[in-house]
Amino acid sequence: MRSICVVGTGYVGLVTGTCFAELGNQVTCLDVDEAKIALLNSGKLPIYEPGLADLVQRNFNMGRLRFTTSYAEGMAAAEFVFIAVNTPSSGDNGGADLRFVESAAKSIGRHLDHDLIIVNKSTVPIGTGDLVASIVLAERKTDARFSVVSNPEFLREGSAVADCLNPDRVVLGSTNRTAAETVAGLYLSLRCPIIITDLATAEMIKYASNAMLATRISFINEIAEVCEALGADVKQVAIGMGYDKRIGSSFLEAGLGYGGSCFPKDVKALMHMASTQGCHPQMLQAVTDINSDQRKRAVDKVRNQLGRLEGKHVGLLGLAFKPNTDDMREAAAVDIANMLLAEGAHVRAYDPVAMEVARGLLPNLTYCHDAYDVARGCDALMIVTEWNEFKQLDMERVKAVMRQPVIVDGRNIYDGTTLREMGFTYQGTGRS
Ligand code: UDX
Ligand code: UDX
Repeated sequence: MRSICVVGTGYVGLVTGTCFAELGNQVTCLDVDEAKIALLNSGKLPIYEPGLADLVQRNFNMGRLRFTTSYAEGMAAAEFVFIAVNTPSSGDNGGADLRFVESAAKSIGRHLDHDLIIVNKSTVPIGTGDLVASIVLAERKTDARFSVVSNPEFLREGSAVADCLNPDRVVLGSTNRTAAETVAGLYLSLRCPIIITDLATAEMIKYASNAMLATRISFINEIAEVCEALGADVKQVAIGMGYDKRIGSSFLEAGLGYGGSCFPKDVKALMHMASTQGCHPQMLQAVTDINSDQRKRAVDKVRNQLGRLEGKHVGLLGLAFKPNTDDMREAAAVDIANMLLAEGAHVRAYDPVAMEVARGLLPNLTYCHDAYDVARGCDALMIVTEWNEFKQLDMERVKAVMRQPVIVDGRNIYDGTTLREMGFTYQGTGRS
């Protein structure tokens, strides 16, 4: 059992802290947001993540998991302090905003009164490990020693707990190999490959991994456009490609492009880092452009069917950036809804868990209580997020309540032939 403090109880920090507690460690999750900590201490979760609530409750009840806003309390017995605060885009140039990492590093420095290892989980530009070390050094009031280790997180929202407890690999980077090996000890029971390298390389592994995955998505979306034009089916193309071991089958789903808190900002941050060093990230620029075009193309399909969108009623099934999360950051739904509204359409929407978050971002939608309610009076229905509950709808019932039976399936969850036989005008993504 080791004693761990995790700073930042967002999607990454809360899952990481809880999983470390589940592995038998003593964990204190710390956040500057008092409301969030009060919620957690009252037994409620600030986010929706499958399987997390039970795990938090069990470890909280066992006394292995605590929540606080106090660095003094959180760091009191800690051997490791993980930084898992958010690192959003800083604005127009796409660089990462390190304000929160810097603020966490300052607080850690001020409260450093015994030797410990600072582990950075947040996705941060190359060089941030050194920056954290210099901030902690500047703020330190004692002669306590510390090392900084980069340990990027690869968990996906919606399957975060499983990803955290069954990682494909653990990446550790540090100037101090012994510190990295000590952190490796926290992961030994997970029996996965552990890569120990230098700080800059570990930080780059995270960006390169996310950029590669984003590239695969934009690649298959480009192929989808060509498939549509030439009469091929991108779903089957992806299956056929995926059997090639050199290619593999994951992350080849054509759709509305990638969203979420990581891919969009990480691709842009990597481009920014490259540009500032005089490199020309041409491919990453194309990846980003294809991604935003994908949303426009989906709206084009609706317009092609309905003509002018002014006064038309369009329904959105799903709002979250992917299923099994309430996260709306960079969700395709936000771009699509805003494009439809800008052209004068009325937009109805439903999402199983993201509607509360969506109301804040998209106040001008009509929020409905289920998929059938969305379809009522609609001239077109768009599948935006592939939640399971949309896959088995009674499509006769959907058709009966729609004004025009038009479906634009942004996630290819329906069989076009079946829907066309039922009388729908169906357009998938990358399927003729
Ligand atoms: C994570 C990563 O840390 C980020 O680098 C990665 O690229 C995306 O995933 P995430 O967990 O999604 O971020 O962020 P969020 O859900 O916004 O949670 C961050 C938490 O840190 C918030 O609860 C916020 O209150 C807290 N925080 C922020 C602090 O505790 N201290 C601060 O100084 C700033
Ligand atoms: C991602 C990375 O996968 C994870 O390793 C990292 O730690 C954080 O960023 P996440 O954003 O939670 O995780 O979700 P992910 O499942 O990767 O999906 C990201 C976006 O890509 C979603 O909008 C999803 O709809 C889209 N996507 C994914 C596709 O369009 N096609 C695919 O084949 C896969």
